[in-house]
Amino acid sequence: MCWAFFTEGWGLFFSEELYNLSVLFSAALFSDRNASVAALLWQYLVGGVSVTGLLWSALWVVAVRRYLAGGLCTSTARLTGQTVVITGANVGIGKETARDLLRRGESYKKLLYYFKDKQVHLACCLSPGAHVILACRSLPKAEEARRSLLGEGGKVEVRLLDLSSLQSVRGFAAGLVKDNIKVHILINNAGVMMCPYMETQEGFEMQMGTNHLGHFLLTNLLLPQMKQHGEPARIINVSSLGHLSGEIDMDDLFFKKKPYDKVQAYANSTQIQVFSLHPGSVHSALGRHILSSVMNDYILCLALKTTLEGAQTTVYCATQAKQHSEMYFSDCAVGWALYASKDERLAEDFWKLSAQLVKLDE
Ligand SMILES: NC(=O)c1ccc[n+]([C@@H]2O[C@H](COP(=O)([O-])OP(=O)(O)OC[C@H]3O[C@@H](n4cnc5c(N)ncnc54)[C@H](OP(=O)(O)O)[C@@H]3O)[C@@H](O)[C@H]2O)c1
Repeated sequence: MCWAFFTEGWGLFFSEELYNLSVLFSAALFSDRNASVAALLWQYLVGGVSVTGLLWSALWVVAVRRYLAGGLCTSTARLTGQTVVITGANVGIGKETARDLLRRGESYKKLLYYFKDKQVHLACCLSPGAHVILACRSLPKAEEARRSLLGEGGKVEVRLLDLSSLQSVRGFAAGLVKDNIKVHILINNAGVMMCPYMETQEGFEMQMGTNHLGHFLLTNLLLPQMKQHGEPARIINVSSLGHLSGEIDMDDLFFKKKPYDKVQAYANSTQIQVFSLHPGSVHSALGRHILSSVMNDYILCLALKTTLEGAQTTVYCATQAKQHSEMYFSDCAVGWALYASKDERLAEDFWKLSAQLVKLDE
């Protein structure tokens, strides 16, 4: 399909160029009878081809970039009074998601509307967006992110959460319980991808430990905070298209018996889904373990979504998406998840194993 797209593109280009050349040829013949026809023709031909070629290239770049940018969340939902926890929100997709949700209060347009109708309580009409908790493993980085998000509308605060330590996850959840914070939206966004073999504090392989087990424990511990208030709540798991090649090996979840495969380990860690999504291929720091900085900083940015574009499906799931049997979204629409993710037996077994590993009952 890709090849057809490519050849058709060039076919169209050359057929258009033939037309341009015939126009230029006639112009050359009749515009200046004193000049040499051959010289004029050459001039028009080169000028015409390069200008048209340039315009076409620009158009292609725009079209390809637009295609890569993917879906856009068009929800105008307001999140005033709602609390959102976003893990790994100091950079990348998580930070852009935070920015969007913070802005979801009464808008400036509404202010003008009230003003036009000569209503007086302008300040009361303006309400802030969500209360967003940036749950991050590095407090200095999170504080920097918080400062850059100040003034977006809602309330933004920072709390320490290292998903590669179950003790830290428990401490984070206990802090929310202690401060009696109702949680309306939990966005399990933090992730590590294709790192060299590393272990979490409890000795789990890093990707399974962080992407799945840390979030598994966090979600379970926060469930009471999400249920008690009796208001609608959402759990959003930022997964990956990579889950399509995932495989849960119940006997060797952490590559202790077989050789470590960093690609497979990432795919496995994103497989179990509840209300989950693929953000697209996004230009962020996620590829730090597999890409050189030149490749990541200067080349890949041309071919990937920006983090703002990458946050669209998360925001869509947080504000607009309706429950669907697939429960998996991509580009702000229902996506296609691996068949095994609908295997209830596997899900149950994996749930039990995860609960046992994170000592959920303790
Ligand atoms: N980018 C893509 O193309 C893409 C594609 C598919 C899926 N995704 C998924 O999208 C999510 C966000 O990715 P991104 O592109 O925004 O990547 P990113 O820029 O690398 O952000 C990842 C975030 O996770 C945090 N994190 C990593 N390990 C953690 C831990 N143990 N405890 C707490 N936080 C931790 C990082 O914190 P530090 O800053 O301190 O490292 C960072 O804030 C990930 O779950 C990823 O798997 C991304």
